[in-house]
Amino acid sequence: MTTNKNYIIINGNKLSFEQGETILNVARKNSIEIPTLCKLKGASPTGTCRICVVEAKGAKELITACSTPAENGMDIMTESSNVVSSRKETLNILLASGNHNCAISGAKDWTRFQLKVCKEEDNNEELCPSWGECKLQDLCFRYQATGGQYQQDRTKYPAELANPFIIRDFSRCILCGRCVQACNEIQVNEAINFGYKGADTKIVAADDKPLKDSACVFCGECVQACPVGALVEKEARYTARPWKTEKVKTTCTYCGVGCQIFLHIRDNKIIKVTGNAEAAPNYGSLCVKGRFGFDFVNSSERLVSPLIRKEGELKEATWAEALNLIGNKLSKIKADYGGDSIGVLTSARITNEENYIANKFTRAVLNTNNIDHCARL
Ligand code: SF4
Ligand code: SF4
Ligand code: SF4
Ligand code: FES
Repeated sequence: MTTNKNYIIINGNKLSFEQGETILNVARKNSIEIPTLCKLKGASPTGTCRICVVEAKGAKELITACSTPAENGMDIMTESSNVVSSRKETLNILLASGNHNCAISGAKDWTRFQLKVCKEEDNNEELCPSWGECKLQDLCFRYQATGGQYQQDRTKYPAELANPFIIRDFSRCILCGRCVQACNEIQVNEAINFGYKGADTKIVAADDKPLKDSACVFCGECVQACPVGALVEKEARYTARPWKTEKVKTTCTYCGVGCQIFLHIRDNKIIKVTGNAEAAPNYGSLCVKGRFGFDFVNSSERLVSPLIRKEGELKEATWAEALNLIGNKLSKIKADYGGDSIGVLTSARITNEENYIANKFTRAVLNTNNIDHCARL
């Protein structure tokens, strides 16, 4: 509650706001939930999906909370019967806009259908790969939207499978535009945009070329932004439903930026990687290596023990053997030729702490300042 000059009322609560703040911002700041679909954090609101509509007392039309600035004295209801029926109708239209078979075919008995799907094989390709992690599905469940009287539309655009990382399934695209904003406003790669017009509208790369022949750098920001099953990681598709995977928070090992990531793990294997949207420095964004380059972890070619060259051949050794050998050789070189005869190169692939230890070891133990870092090579 406040006596501030700038205030609005949301669901009976009198709330202050700063000039320019949207109704959605004011609501979220005060823990009032308004559902959204097209609104992408960090990007400008587009007002495309109309899921966030709210009722303003005295206004003729419902307004979109994500793109309407709060105005002094506004009296807003976020779940009035008008709002609820509008959201339900919008969801029905979205469901009918493509191949959203999960909600349509489960319409008569959601609970039974959900239980059935939980028991399904993960690789049942009749089911949408995004089942269980789809914002549209969640909203349909919340508002009990099942497609209404609309006929389901079939897209004429076939799915694009032509690159190793991302599957674009246009039949499930709801044209929310989040991928376009993720690519253009968040990553500033400008690889995709809306193309064609009216019923033919499609998200396209330049000249409607496949992503692999476009300016796309496969950062996967669009995949993470897509609220439905229209953009999915190729390797992860049908490998495990979200309730069968464990999410482990960690730091990307590829460079010194230290992006925060989640590993999605099943049976001790990484299924996919997503950016941690809540943590600095990356706030969910990743590059192609961080998002898609994780296969080395479970690679059968990965070195898991040290190798020592004996009679011209590399032979497996224990860590104790390897460390003793290195220690003895470095000691001898230092004794024979002095510390400055040795140079140390550290790596962006190791942690800050490990680089610090290498620095200490070089200067204090080897007695040389000959230390540098691979980032300067
Ligand atoms: S995209 Fe979402 S709503 Fe559509 S079929 Fe897949 S899970 Fe269901
Ligand atoms: S993967 Fe990255 S560059 Fe490619 S379309 Fe998606 S956001 Fe744009
Ligand atoms: S591909 Fe996904 S994010 Fe992009 S417009 Fe379609 S539904 Fe929205
Ligand atoms: S979230 Fe506001 S219009 Fe889509």
